[in-house]
Amino acid sequence: MALRQSKKKRPPREEKMLKAERKLESEVFDRNTLLALAKLRQQGHFETLDYPIAKGKEAYAFVGTAPDGQKVAIKIYRIETSNFIRMHDYLDGDPRFARTSRKRFETVLAWARKEFSNLKAFHEAGIAVPKPFGFERNIVVMEFLGEGGIPYSTLAEIGTEQPQKDYEFMLEQVKKIYQLGFVHSDISEYNIIVADSGLKLLDCAQAVLLAHPRAEEFLRRDVENLVRYFGKQGAEGADAEKALAFIKDGKPVLRDPEALKEEDGEGGGRRDR
Ligand SMILES: Nc1ncnc2c1ncn2[C@@H]1O[C@H](COP(=O)(O)OP(=O)(O)O)[C@@H](O)[C@H]1O
Ligand SMILES: [Mg+2]
Repeated sequence: MALRQSKKKRPPREEKMLKAERKLESEVFDRNTLLALAKLRQQGHFETLDYPIAKGKEAYAFVGTAPDGQKVAIKIYRIETSNFIRMHDYLDGDPRFARTSRKRFETVLAWARKEFSNLKAFHEAGIAVPKPFGFERNIVVMEFLGEGGIPYSTLAEIGTEQPQKDYEFMLEQVKKIYQLGFVHSDISEYNIIVADSGLKLLDCAQAVLLAHPRAEEFLRRDVENLVRYFGKQGAEGADAEKALAFIKDGKPVLRDPEALKEEDGEGGGRRDR
């Protein structure tokens, strides 16, 4: 009787949360991930891992606090429940990652490494992405885009009050990425954050070098997503062909994959901001 009563009393919401917590533990915090977190912490990238902010397609995002009190974003890729077959569409044709094994584990690790490497190249070129701080195994630590510990909303969540300006700004980012020798390959209103300082582009793991045989197809898809979204919001002259001509006007850098391989190795360094 007592047992039945206590079961009845337990609110279902609490039960749901318990379930979610158990899932989080088994999906994310396996032993090796905990060791990798410890290493990043030792390197000074964060002091505490505070709370989850999002569960995305392949990763959980958390807020952490750095030793100087600043918030950081910690993205942990799930090993077991990531769509690693899809990841190969963006790894195999990219000279930097073409030799990635088809094993689930190694694919996800290459993916996190690719996100860090892309973020670093983009950030250094002045493209509006969060600044990457470090990576280890399936974890990427980067600048937290938010205020008071709460992440800024995505464009999909809150929309835009200045569609023309935002459209032009995003085309400029795509152009800078292209001229740097890359295509983002996952641009949509869901991966654009509306920060106080302006729009920021997230989710850079899919980005490929122009040498990827499907780079043009990915570029067109990115551009069509922007044209569709901002066109609906009222941006004038949002047209894919015009946008592509603007983006391609110039001479893109054809990046040397050998040089990029060297750059890839820098994830584990000490924190330096
Ligand atoms: N650097 C960051 N700062 C603040 N929030 C972030 C950051 N990175 C990710 N997020 C949050 O996590 C969500 C998912 O992140 P994203 O990089 O798009 O991963 P996914 O591949 O899972 O879509 C975002 O929509 C955003 O709410
Ligand atoms: Mg995303």
